[in-house]
Amino acid sequence: MESQAHPSDRAGLEYASWRTASADALDRRVAWLEEHGHGGTWVPQDLGGGREYEFTDPDGHVFRLYFDTEAYVAPEGKRPVIPVNFQAYAGRGANVRHVDHLNLLARDVRANRRFWEEGFGLRTYEIIELPDGAEAGAWMSATIQGHELIYTQERTSGSARLHHFAYLVDTREEVLRAAEIFADARIHIEAGPSRHTAIQGFYLYTREPGGNRIEVANGGYLVFAPDREPYVWTAEEWATKPGWGAPIPPEFHIYGTPDVAE
Ligand SMILES: [Fe+2]
Repeated sequence: MESQAHPSDRAGLEYASWRTASADALDRRVAWLEEHGHGGTWVPQDLGGGREYEFTDPDGHVFRLYFDTEAYVAPEGKRPVIPVNFQAYAGRGANVRHVDHLNLLARDVRANRRFWEEGFGLRTYEIIELPDGAEAGAWMSATIQGHELIYTQERTSGSARLHHFAYLVDTREEVLRAAEIFADARIHIEAGPSRHTAIQGFYLYTREPGGNRIEVANGGYLVFAPDREPYVWTAEEWATKPGWGAPIPPEFHIYGTPDVAE
């Protein structure tokens, strides 16, 4: 995964792209989208000069699918000593390794979860179910990594909003190191460092200058069993907050980008 920043007059997620396993897989997913009323359009690809298909999830977030790509070649001075690595170890700032997961807000978490399960084969590892049957959160993945795509409940009048995206560091200690760096740089720490209950990743949250919430993350469990069913938390069980972890500030569950006046 990678991220790109584009100038804009408001914060938020412009789009998220998935790379398909093959060109044929791309055509199959586009066929599924069009057969199920989620058809979008082919757009010029940002990188690679190939074709890319743009569509929206049920909440209105923009996604793209592509297969063609252009492999990154590290420039002189950043070449790694071990050729399989993408570039030399940077060792600066929070020293994040790659984008780890994306958390979106949705008015109907279940509808979005089903969209990705049925159309793309994503697996759901944890769900929070409310007393009225609605879902407050769903943690999904295309791999054994516990969370690649997360939907949590939209609690404002907004739609198609970003909650946060997370960058991975290799160890919990490096999350603490990032906190030291943020603090001395007077960068606001919204939550953490602590550990989440769902998927159990170690976290630190801030916001980049444009307003998007960013997480520096480590860990979270892996799921090797091919037939593991999602764990469904009841609201009561979730409220007991089993295990350990600091309380999350209330605004964490409200704020997203674009920011909306309530
Ligand atoms: Fe996260």
